Amino acid sequence: MSDIHILCIGDVVGKPGRDVLADHLPALIEARRIGLVVCNAENAAGGSGLTPEIFKKLLAAGVDVVTLGDHAYRKKQIIPTLETSDRIVRPANLAVAAAGKRWTAVPTRDGSDQAAVALVLGQMYMKPADSPWAAVERLLKEIPADVRLRIIDVHAEASSEKIAMGWNLDGRATLVFGTHTHVPTADACILPGGTAYISDVGMTGPYDGVLGRRKDRVLKSLLTDMPTFYEIATGDVRLCGVLVTADTRTGRASAIERIEIRGQARPGRPYDKDDGMGQNA
Ligand SMILES: [Fe+2]
Ligand SMILES: [Fe+2]
Repeated sequence: MSDIHILCIGDVVGKPGRDVLADHLPALIEARRIGLVVCNAENAAGGSGLTPEIFKKLLAAGVDVVTLGDHAYRKKQIIPTLETSDRIVRPANLAVAAAGKRWTAVPTRDGSDQAAVALVLGQMYMKPADSPWAAVERLLKEIPADVRLRIIDVHAEASSEKIAMGWNLDGRATLVFGTHTHVPTADACILPGGTAYISDVGMTGPYDGVLGRRKDRVLKSLLTDMPTFYEIATGDVRLCGVLVTADTRTGRASAIERIEIRGQARPGRPYDKDDGMGQNA
């Protein structure tokens, strides 16, 4: 049997997202015999960025590789981790001098195979970044040919750009999964060349809000144009991702399934000391 099950989890938002992940991921890995877990954590610390403490806790919960996004450096304390760990990647299409790895290759959970993971930022309606198209060509040349499992997180606003990237990588990547927009899409599929694709896996966080933030705060800002703190929401917390079955010998995917697990609402503030609030003024 050479199939592997790969779980890719969407943007973990703040403490509510971290809690639902810690509550459900270990059992999910066990129940679905998951061989690799990739998790986008660009919003994990206080809704924006990542701290070393949260990074360690994500790994302890069962995450194998963390991807980021346009908020990669929002918490500066993550920079030494980006420079030293092979379990985290920064966007591949930033400046050469930007801290962190453009791709990584790690052993699968049972140690029998290697998997490469990278992410690129989109260019439409996003802060300027280098071409994601040139970046993926560089990545595919640099990843050793014997690493057949290749997972690309496309962190972009426009679904058109993500879909185009899926077609561009069809037959050359195991999985292309979209993040950043925080809303799960209903277009999970296996493309003709054997690449699993979805435009957005959905966020892991509170859905009773606007992309993970309190709806009253977002509405106040939109209705009054006055500055407002976009506090993390707390209700309707879900873990969202995709589970992909792939052949470890060819790197081709054969199945993709959306995962959505509803969590328990927890009373209290949606922040704790790990969020690193106030250290980045
Ligand atoms: Fe983002
Ligand atoms: Fe995000």
